[in-house]
Amino acid sequence: MSTAKLTGSAALGGGQRLAIKYFVVAIVLFGAQILFGLLAGFQYLQPDFLYGVVDFSVNRMVHINAMVVWMLFGFIGSIYWLIEEESGTEVVGLALGNLGFWLFTIAVAIVVVVYLVIQTGPGTIESIWFINEGREYIEAPRWADVGIVVCVLIFFYNVAATFMKGRWTGIGGVLVLDLVAVAGMYLAGMFYSPNLSMDQFWWWWVIHLWVEATWEVLVGCIMAWGLIKTLGARRQVVTTWLYIEVALMLGSGILGLGHHYFWIGTPEYWLTVGGFFSALEPVPLVAMVVHAVYDSGVHRFKSPNHPALAWLIAHAFGNFFGAGVWGFMHTLPQVNIYTHGTQWSASHGHFAFFGAYATMNIAVFYLAAQKWRGNVNFGGGLVDNGWKWKWSLGLLNGGVLGMVMALLVSGYDQVFIERALEGATWAGFFKAQYSVWYLQGMWWRQLFGYMTAAGFFLLVWDLMTIGVRETRPAAFHTEVAEHAA
Ligand code: HEM
Ligand code: HEM
Ligand SMILES: [Fe+2]
Repeated sequence: MSTAKLTGSAALGGGQRLAIKYFVVAIVLFGAQILFGLLAGFQYLQPDFLYGVVDFSVNRMVHINAMVVWMLFGFIGSIYWLIEEESGTEVVGLALGNLGFWLFTIAVAIVVVVYLVIQTGPGTIESIWFINEGREYIEAPRWADVGIVVCVLIFFYNVAATFMKGRWTGIGGVLVLDLVAVAGMYLAGMFYSPNLSMDQFWWWWVIHLWVEATWEVLVGCIMAWGLIKTLGARRQVVTTWLYIEVALMLGSGILGLGHHYFWIGTPEYWLTVGGFFSALEPVPLVAMVVHAVYDSGVHRFKSPNHPALAWLIAHAFGNFFGAGVWGFMHTLPQVNIYTHGTQWSASHGHFAFFGAYATMNIAVFYLAAQKWRGNVNFGGGLVDNGWKWKWSLGLLNGGVLGMVMALLVSGYDQVFIERALEGATWAGFFKAQYSVWYLQGMWWRQLFGYMTAAGFFLLVWDLMTIGVRETRPAAFHTEVAEHAA
């Protein structure tokens, strides 16, 4: 028996090699997100800082677009990572998949450069096509939209055709149906109308139905697979949970869309529909926590990959608190009339995107790193006691949680001063912006932002080095062993 362990790309199949490319771009964009977030945060404190060089509006836009795109790269990579093992066959159109990767990456690079070079000017049909569409989170110009659709179609073809050629599993079936919806929702964002209410109506189809329906299903699939990988959880158990969670998520998340239709000029029945269904949205997120804790308990937290398992658990809790609890707090119209569009929303936005989606991506990065290092042990007794992954886990989660709390303080202050006392007037807005607590919140957000950035650097360093000096092979729990037990 050969004892030489395969490492690097030699250890991987074609789909996983492609996945690594997606992960690398995802991590670079994650870094860009943090950099531009820090710049935007600093401009809250020193509004003249870089004014006319990179304006707040641009920093903010690059910050949140980098986030959406890095998470998409991470998700696409995660699926290319798992698909060959899951379907039992090679990815059918690997050359096409590589082409899609390069198209997507080049388009993103051009779009960011254009954002930075052309920061101001009138919005016209030409600017919609070539510079900026002006829709928060999906500002990419129309030409890039078309390019992204082509890349997503290539990706969809690869996923569906690979499962069709190999074997279908419960996870694979849910995944493929979900990808149809993810792509379909994106098309709703290409609709253009000069009527702002209509424009917002369709824009929310992308934003809300992505993060509160289709992306949730996507991470549900990755979670199911991840629990099998990190804990050796039984496939029947995770698949059953997956079906239940998906049914609950779609049942509440689709009409939960109404919580964005309260004040944009849509009919009044949305107050009731949105309030009721979105209030139910935390239910599946509770189920996901129960599911993860149950599986970990059954397997006594024994795992060949501790960092990946830790991030999966961070996902279950982050999703529940950031999306479920923080979302629930302002989802009833009676509350939202006061909190709408304040730092309260930003508090929830940071907590939910980080808690639900950054965590899941990082978990898969660690699974990938393990195989890249030759399937060595990432469990207990790591060289250096695994201090880097533990500290980056602590700094990233602590940093984001700190920002979330700081923003909540500022948000409360805004609600009291701007909305309750001053009756949501323009003068009230400025009164709140200069109040002591609000400004203190902004300072704390910046400090915790630096902590988050430190966690990010440590994460990158760890991913590049973890397991390099490890020689013990990972003791994988196989599904077969589990069934026999
Ligand atoms: C992972 C899932 C979720 C993510 C990533 C997320 C993210 C966000 C973000 C970024 C915003 C701000 C949008 C803007 O720029 O205007 C927002 C708004 C909102 N979210 Fe979520 N959210 C999630 C789940 C939920 C859930 C489950 C609920 C309710 C239970 C909820 C309730 C709300 C409400 C009511 C608003 C509107 C805030 C306002 O009026 O300003 N969210 N969400
Ligand atoms: C590392 C330090 C970070 C800093 C200093 C920072 C700062 C900011 C700032 C200043 C804004 C604009 C808020 C406004 O318009 O009032 C913003 C928006 C946002 N950031 Fe961050 N951010 C950081 C990290 C992150 C991370 C890690 C995530 C998620 C993974 C994230 C997600 C968001 C979202 C979703 C929004 C839009 C919120 C909304 O529309 O309400 N940020 N951030
Ligand atoms: Fe929503």
